[in-house]
Amino acid sequence: MSILVTGGNGFIGSHTCVELAEAGYDFIIMDNCSNSDEKNIEVIQKIIGKNFKFYNADMRDFNGVDGIFKENTIDSVIHFAGLKAVGESVEKPLEYYENNVSGTINVLKAMNKNSCKNIIFSSSATVYGLNNKVPFEETMPLSAINPYGQSKIMIEKILTDLCKADLEWSAVILRYFNPIGAHESGLLGENPKGIPNNLIPYINHVALGDLPYLNIFGNDYDTPDGTGVRDYIHVVDLAKGHIKAMDYGFKHKGAEVFNLGSGKGTSVFEIVKAYEKASGKKIKYKIIGRRAGDVGMCYADIRKAEKVLDWHAKYDIEKMCRDSWNFIKKQHGN
Ligand code: NAD
Ligand code: UFG
Repeated sequence: MSILVTGGNGFIGSHTCVELAEAGYDFIIMDNCSNSDEKNIEVIQKIIGKNFKFYNADMRDFNGVDGIFKENTIDSVIHFAGLKAVGESVEKPLEYYENNVSGTINVLKAMNKNSCKNIIFSSSATVYGLNNKVPFEETMPLSAINPYGQSKIMIEKILTDLCKADLEWSAVILRYFNPIGAHESGLLGENPKGIPNNLIPYINHVALGDLPYLNIFGNDYDTPDGTGVRDYIHVVDLAKGHIKAMDYGFKHKGAEVFNLGSGKGTSVFEIVKAYEKASGKKIKYKIIGRRAGDVGMCYADIRKAEKVLDWHAKYDIEKMCRDSWNFIKKQHGN
């Protein structure tokens, strides 16, 4: 079986490629490296101990994507490629819709043309919006307050419509909660360019001493300690979820949605404490106002993934913090 992994050079994609190799699948990566370093490809090859084909290509270029299908026999696509910065999506909506939505339509058209009708798609817990009550269930109504979230809702709908129109299609839609952690080798992980927006990448740099303190966005939420609660999931657990989802997709037609989270809520204070323990570093912080668009609580109802995919997350917050610290330390030569 050969799998095309779009965005396979990125954070979640690269970890998924390692798991694909482990499970015995061949894969090809297509990535335009707009948010990843091409050198990562060699790192993945080093970890799995073998080479694979890599296309530095942009999914917005239909002929380029079609060409990849013409040159290879592809049984399924795991589709990670997309832009993911919430704040940037508000400033650059056209870029986000063009990249995420038009890009995905290109991928789907190329798949259709080449009779590959099996896809796993990276959606997000952000589609649950601001009005649902935790734990979030797959059947809840969806809403978005930014173009990034809206692009995920639109793609979910496109996939659902496609599966209704053509009964040969299979689309497994995975709603990720908050992936953190890194590969145990410390060679793969998340280290965005510039000042990070997300909690763990920001704390990583406070621990390294590059940033003086963490700004905690609000301690007046209706949560046990007042800080925001999220469902953090180790990226390796998440990656393994894709193998289960793909195996499911090979056996079932139609569109199906699954939450991939741990099912547990952890507050910002709890993360700070766990990270301090894992790294031995003091994480200084200041409490500032709430960040626009943040919900107080976000965690998954994971019963469907457990029951149907036979998957659940294994690693705890301590391990996630330990692996994040191990990765960032290595990146900075400590
Ligand atoms: P990432 O930015 O590390 O990886 C995405 C990859 O896609 C990058 O390597 C980037 O270069 C590539 N890419 C972007 N546009 C492309 C294009 N037009 N053509 C080809 N390649 C392109 O992000 P990630 O954290 O690994 O996320 C992967 C997917 O999961 C994304 O779709 C994201 O929206 C979704 N997701 C991520 C999170 C999260 O917190 N990380 C949460 C929910 C959903
Ligand atoms: N936080 C801080 N300070 C920071 C960064 C974050 O206090 O500097 C807090 C946030 O307020 C929130 C928690 O830490 O309570 C987690 O915030 P992140 O930015 O790490 O993650 P989000 O839950 O806001 O969003 C992430 C991705 C989205 C995705 C969503 C659900 O950024 O793209 O998870 O999957 F949609």
